[in-house]
Amino acid sequence: PATTQRNQPVTVTVTGAGGQIGYALLFRAAAGAMFGSHTPVRLRLLEIPAGVRAAHGVALELDDCAFPLLASVDVFDEADRAFDGTDVAVLVGARPRTAGMERKDLLAANAGIFGPQGRAINDNAGDDVRIVVVGNPANTNALIASAHAPDIPVDRFTALTRLDHNRALAQLSHRFGVDTGHITRMAIWGNHSNTQFPDVSNVAVKGSPLAGSQLDRAWLRDEFIPKVADRGAEIIAVRGASSAASAANAIIDHVHDWFKGTPAGDWTSAAVMSRGEYGTPAGVFCSFPVTASGGAWHIVPDLKMSDEARSRLAISTDELLAERAAVAELGLLPVHHV
Ligand code: NAD
Ligand code: LMR
Repeated sequence: PATTQRNQPVTVTVTGAGGQIGYALLFRAAAGAMFGSHTPVRLRLLEIPAGVRAAHGVALELDDCAFPLLASVDVFDEADRAFDGTDVAVLVGARPRTAGMERKDLLAANAGIFGPQGRAINDNAGDDVRIVVVGNPANTNALIASAHAPDIPVDRFTALTRLDHNRALAQLSHRFGVDTGHITRMAIWGNHSNTQFPDVSNVAVKGSPLAGSQLDRAWLRDEFIPKVADRGAEIIAVRGASSAASAANAIIDHVHDWFKGTPAGDWTSAAVMSRGEYGTPAGVFCSFPVTASGGAWHIVPDLKMSDEARSRLAISTDELLAERAAVAELGLLPVHHV
């Protein structure tokens, strides 16, 4: 945990480091955004051979920033070496979807990456390693990676849904005319896909729960939920490429909170291994409202959920089960996980 490591360098391995998210992420990580201004960072960049030159280019630019906290940058095309001694593994490397593709189209293309990387993390990473999976389909890729890392507690694996959480905060900020910093207790449930359930039922604005007309059901159903759930596709359509800087920002927030803790009175969202909480199926990586303390995530307990909320969550967890079955069918999960 961060408190004992504050002045020790933290080793961060980023896969897909030559890609879009890598380019938006690495400079902020090197500037201290993940662990604060007293913690040096060692960066290890993993790419496939076709991406190694781009990653070397990023390393040259990192050098040219003369970041005081950047202890080292190394580029690898071999996972065992890239994860050697790593404290934080950010698994970005995967093909992004392009216009017209749904996330499930990425299953076969990307899932094969995460078994070997899980094994390499298992065999080479530091004892305290923490892993965040970003490459899509992120929840199921986290399952595959953790299934190939039997020596690493499954709680060290997460999939990123912080971008969805931040997207929801931004929409609420526009709707209610307050800064995002005044909005607490937003929750993203389920899969990082358009079946996710962005849940405002516990949201407070400046400490007061939403009430009455603020909880306009038609707006929630017809505007807010689809806006958040389909934002990835909207970005692809408008920008012509999948979200990168906002994804990198969400990775920074996720890792920062994992090490430093979430603020008192608030929570965030992350996909963690379900043990059946809130009626979800055990054994899939599901997004929950979570707090972080002591270097660990904790699912927020005892929230009331309406029947509608439960059925929305069930749609998303059914999709997670279907993704798990699909990758099992492809032989990408060890037999005892199927
Ligand atoms: P990109 O194509 O710009 O970069 C991906 C990089 O990964 C490429 O440089 C590629 O060479 C590399 N790569 C591919 N296979 C690899 C492997 N086995 N090991 C190491 N590197 C490998 O894509 P991007 O825009 O950076 O997006 C990366 C992934 O992140 C995509 O799957 C995208 O859908 C996903 N994504 C997730 C979220 C989220 O919130 N969870 C948000 C945005 C994007
Ligand atoms: C996003 O949410 O922006 C990413 O997961 C990219 C995508 O395919 O939606």
